[in-house]
Amino acid sequence: MSDQPSSLHGDVYHPVPEIARQANVPNPELYYKEASEDLEGYWDRRAKELEWYAPWTKVLDDSNKPFFKWFIDGKTNIVLNALDRHVKTWRRNKLALIWEGETGELRTFSYHALNREVTHFSGVLRSMGISKGDRVTIYLPRIPEAWIAMLACAKVGAVHSVVYGGFSVEALHGRIEDSGSRLIITADGGYMGGKIVELKNIVDEALTRTAHPENVIVVRRTGKPVNMEAGRDFWYHELMSLPLTRNASKVETEVMDAEDPLFILYTSGTTGKPKAIVHTHGGYQVGVYATLHDVFDLKEEDRWWCTADPGWITGHSYIVYGPLLNGATSFMYEGGPTYPFPDRWWSMIAKYGINIFYTTPTAIRGLMRFGEAWPNRHDLSTLRLLGSVGEPINPEAWRWFHKNVGKEKCPIMDTWWQTETGAFMITPMPAIPTKPGSATRPYPGVEMDIVDEKGVPVKTGEEGFLVIKKPWPAMMRTIYNDPERYVQTYWSKFPGMYLAGDSARRDEDGYYWIIGRVDDVIKVSGYRLGTAELESAFVSHHAVAETAVIGLPHELKGVAIHAYVILKAGHEPSEALIEELRHHIAHEMGPIAKPERIEFVKSLPKTRSGKIMRRVLKARALGISEGDISTLEE
Ligand code: WTA
Repeated sequence: MSDQPSSLHGDVYHPVPEIARQANVPNPELYYKEASEDLEGYWDRRAKELEWYAPWTKVLDDSNKPFFKWFIDGKTNIVLNALDRHVKTWRRNKLALIWEGETGELRTFSYHALNREVTHFSGVLRSMGISKGDRVTIYLPRIPEAWIAMLACAKVGAVHSVVYGGFSVEALHGRIEDSGSRLIITADGGYMGGKIVELKNIVDEALTRTAHPENVIVVRRTGKPVNMEAGRDFWYHELMSLPLTRNASKVETEVMDAEDPLFILYTSGTTGKPKAIVHTHGGYQVGVYATLHDVFDLKEEDRWWCTADPGWITGHSYIVYGPLLNGATSFMYEGGPTYPFPDRWWSMIAKYGINIFYTTPTAIRGLMRFGEAWPNRHDLSTLRLLGSVGEPINPEAWRWFHKNVGKEKCPIMDTWWQTETGAFMITPMPAIPTKPGSATRPYPGVEMDIVDEKGVPVKTGEEGFLVIKKPWPAMMRTIYNDPERYVQTYWSKFPGMYLAGDSARRDEDGYYWIIGRVDDVIKVSGYRLGTAELESAFVSHHAVAETAVIGLPHELKGVAIHAYVILKAGHEPSEALIEELRHHIAHEMGPIAKPERIEFVKSLPKTRSGKIMRRVLKARALGISEGDISTLEE
């Protein structure tokens, strides 16, 4: 970003005394100290704040690195802590979820009601033969049934694989195929930015490319007619009203081993197809519960709003699981932030009295464009804390957010983490000073470093690879079906260190400043996409012979997709073809993957072994030095 400070000091925003004093963690230094002196002791203490069917015999097993295991022999289920333990207390009457549809409808669920729906739907899953270990693909809009589906899977021990509703045919197909899902849960459609996204049609098309799933459950959201294939497709509301679900109160939460998988979530990496990150019931629940509790300071009476989508890790950890593990009240909104006007979000903060609001730099930059009059005409005085995630936040957006949304009294928690880490890793807490553009310090027990090409720690202020040096409970366990790739991708560049894929600097205060991805991951508007998946979507078009995709800085999106395309013989470059290709990418991958710019070229810079040198393309586009090009053979 243009206004990135050249000095690493940045301005310091001191904690707000009234907020820091009452925080769940009023003295973070004690936590940092406790965890650095006794990592296992720290997590042992935190895990005991949750319920378990049977206690663990050992906190951490690191005998088979990097396949770490946590809470050995512990028996639990994330649903035991997200629902079961609350409905035994007064919290059964507390709101778990307040939901507003884009078209204005309101639905609320107490813990009692959410538990009832989840239990009923667990009965449906069981009756369809879904049991422990089965994979289920969930492809839904931002509606309460996304929560119900995820929690019901967890309750019966099935492994959910949520695919973001903004992904399209080929992205969905690839994820269904790789996961071997037996069931898909989708909707007739969802509302987004004034339009209907026709999810069921996308599912139908994806299913013409695979033989895997036996059944599709369809939630009625829009009421628009959809194709229902007899024997394969079932309406959610019909299944939920069948007599079988009358016995649903008898569906018990499955007792899981702490290390049993809870979900897989596909994410883009350096090369090849998206990989399925595996998270577990035990360690994941502890990490997500503790981080949300400490960082966003959830109080019993708070209303929390995380604007992410359940289809991404932020939604898994901090829309669905984290708030429920904390017994909190969450708000979720279905649609787009500017529909019908650019104050939709601000009006809902006022309407529902939101206390803590967690969003993305892209959203802030997008809303900033419309000017401060929009937030200023709403009463945002209930807000106490703000948060940011997904990409580096440029100080200009940070300050706008701080001034116009937080009215200069709400600290901003800029949280750095990843699909792979499961929970916050570098993050402030309400009682530590913040600096615009820095995610501040590693969370207690998280040991990070910044190293050079040889794995040697760099000096203060120097840029290097961000690495993690000690295991943490919410860490990914492996890549589903591909443990070798797990070792190769994350643990092989620097033995004994987890490679995050980001570059960063650290200042004199030990604060981390994330610069961005150093691999072929592109963070478009905070959405994580991979060049490999994009490129394969391009070459599935009949006119394309070869392509290279890179990310270039973009004022609103942070990073935007640029594609260099070599056409097959017999095809000529034209504006019409550019439009057709953009449409093709949106159809195959999803609208979020639409390239900013497509350029037709005759050749691509490659190494002698035929690898495309995206780094060179990027340097050329930015007009900077191409670096070492000794291996280049164009
Ligand atoms: C980026 C999202 C700077 C980073 C939770 C990371 C951030 C990638 C921040 C993971 C932040 C996330 N500041 N960069 N606060 N948070 N990132 O898996 O590049 O979708 O590696 O998880 O997002 O993206 P993912």
